[in-house]
Amino acid sequence: MNRLKCIKSMVDKCSTAADIGTDHGYVAEMLLKEGICEKVIATDLNEGPLNRAKEHLSSVKLSDKCDFRLGSGLTVLNEGEADAIIIAGMGGDLISEIIETSKDTAMKAKQLILQPMTAVDNLRRYLSEHGFEIIDENIVREYNHFYFIIKAKKGLAKKEDEIYYEISRILLNKKEPLMLDYINKVLNTNKKIISSLEKTDNTEYNIKIESLKKKNKKIKELIK
Ligand SMILES: C[S@@+](CC[C@H](N)C(=O)[O-])C[C@H]1O[C@@H](n2cnc3c(N)ncnc32)[C@H](O)[C@@H]1O
Repeated sequence: MNRLKCIKSMVDKCSTAADIGTDHGYVAEMLLKEGICEKVIATDLNEGPLNRAKEHLSSVKLSDKCDFRLGSGLTVLNEGEADAIIIAGMGGDLISEIIETSKDTAMKAKQLILQPMTAVDNLRRYLSEHGFEIIDENIVREYNHFYFIIKAKKGLAKKEDEIYYEISRILLNKKEPLMLDYINKVLNTNKKIISSLEKTDNTEYNIKIESLKKKNKKIKELIK
């Protein structure tokens, strides 16, 4: 399954969905075409991408079901207006910032579907520690890149063991086969960093080397 299809598959049937950072409008198109929602609020920070979405959705005759809004994150939504909020294709830190800026709006949505391009660990940490519960996760691979799609909703703030921010507990429990490939990639990347730091013979890196070795040991324990 590709990234966009997986995002769509994780959205529960609802009345109104908001596609934040819509760009080409493909997420909005899929949701409407498959009847997952009746209306989409398609938003973007920039005029160029928003116009692209307008053109595309009008070419597939769906623009009458879309409300196009220019502006940052969830600030263009009224509280409770969207049952589902989708924020995909942005950095994990930006997604956290967008949610934190309009926390009440995010908490009122029944489902947040989040797909970070980077810093997935920071996003999981932000959600868990700031009153959101991660209720589902999926992993997909396109070429050599792994993407995580997170479904979250209002919950109780709690601190997780740090390792589960990096290696999703939900995906481990699901025994998702792609997770093993992802974990091996993480282990190998860490090993390469350890060996290049060791080669420098610089004692300043000892702490970093030790922490990476500890992390790899912990990750291996998770998949035993
Ligand atoms: C890489 S595209 C992702 C498009 C689509 N969501 C996807 O997943 O394929 C990122 C889009 O987010 C928009 N964007 C960046 N920061 C934003 C913000 N703070 N609020 C809304 N849109 C933003 C950009 O203008 C761009 O169109």
